[in-house]
Amino acid sequence: MFNLFKKTPAPTLSDFSILGTDLHSHLLPGIDDGAPDLETSLNLIRDLQNLGFRRLFTTPHVMSDFYPNTRDVILRKKDQLQEALDELGMELEFGAAAEYYLDETFAALLKTEPLLTLPGNRVLVEMSFHQPYPDLHRIIFDLQMKGYHPILAHPERYPYFRSTDDYENLKAMGCALQINLLSLTGYYGKPVQSAAKTILGLGLADFLATDLHHARHAENLQQALSHELVVKTLQSSVFQNNLI
Ligand SMILES: [Fe+2]
Repeated sequence: MFNLFKKTPAPTLSDFSILGTDLHSHLLPGIDDGAPDLETSLNLIRDLQNLGFRRLFTTPHVMSDFYPNTRDVILRKKDQLQEALDELGMELEFGAAAEYYLDETFAALLKTEPLLTLPGNRVLVEMSFHQPYPDLHRIIFDLQMKGYHPILAHPERYPYFRSTDDYENLKAMGCALQINLLSLTGYYGKPVQSAAKTILGLGLADFLATDLHHARHAENLQQALSHELVVKTLQSSVFQNNLI
C-alpha cells in the first residue's frame, strides 16, 4: 500500500572527496594539541583517508606562549611522519605548513624568517578567541608585501566577528576565509554555526577544512556527512580546496 507518511531519506554524502584536499589539521606527533604520538598521527591520517581526503597539508600551531614550534621542528616531524607513511605504503600527498597565531612574536618572525606555507605561498593564520589582533590590517598588509597570501582559519569562531561587515572587511584586506566543516554541524555551538552560515550565504568562504585534532573530530566528521547543512553546502558551492 502507498504510504503517505513515508519520508524521503535525507541526502547523505558518501565522503568528502568532493573537497579532496584538507589544508588545516594537527597531525604531527607531540608538538601541539593534536596527535600526541606517531601511532595517533597515523590513525588520524587513516581516518582522513577514509573520509575521502587524498591530499593533506597539516598545520601545527605556532603560538609563542603554548606551542613555540619552529620551522625546523615542524619539518623534522613531517619527515618522520612521511617516513612512517612510506613504510606502511600509505599513498597520499602529505605536506606540512603551520597555523600561525597572530601576535608580536609572529610579527617579528615575519620580518626575519621564511614562513611555512601551503601551496601557492598561502599562509594559514589564526587569532585570539577573546579579542582581534590590534593591528590586523597592518599585519595582513605586511604578509602580502612579503608575497604571502593569508588565509584566516575559522573566521566563524571569533565571537568579535559576527557581522556581514566584519567578513567583508576581512576579504577586502586580502584574507581568504577558511570555514571549519564541523562549524556547520553546530559542534562549536549555535553562534558559530550561524556565523558560518552567514559567511557561506555571502559567498565569502574560500576553503572548508577539518581542523582535525583527535579521533572525536573524525567521528563527528563522519556524522557530518549526513548533516543537512553540510550536504547542502558541499552540493551547492565550490571551494578552492582542490585548486591549491
Ligand atoms: Fe587549527
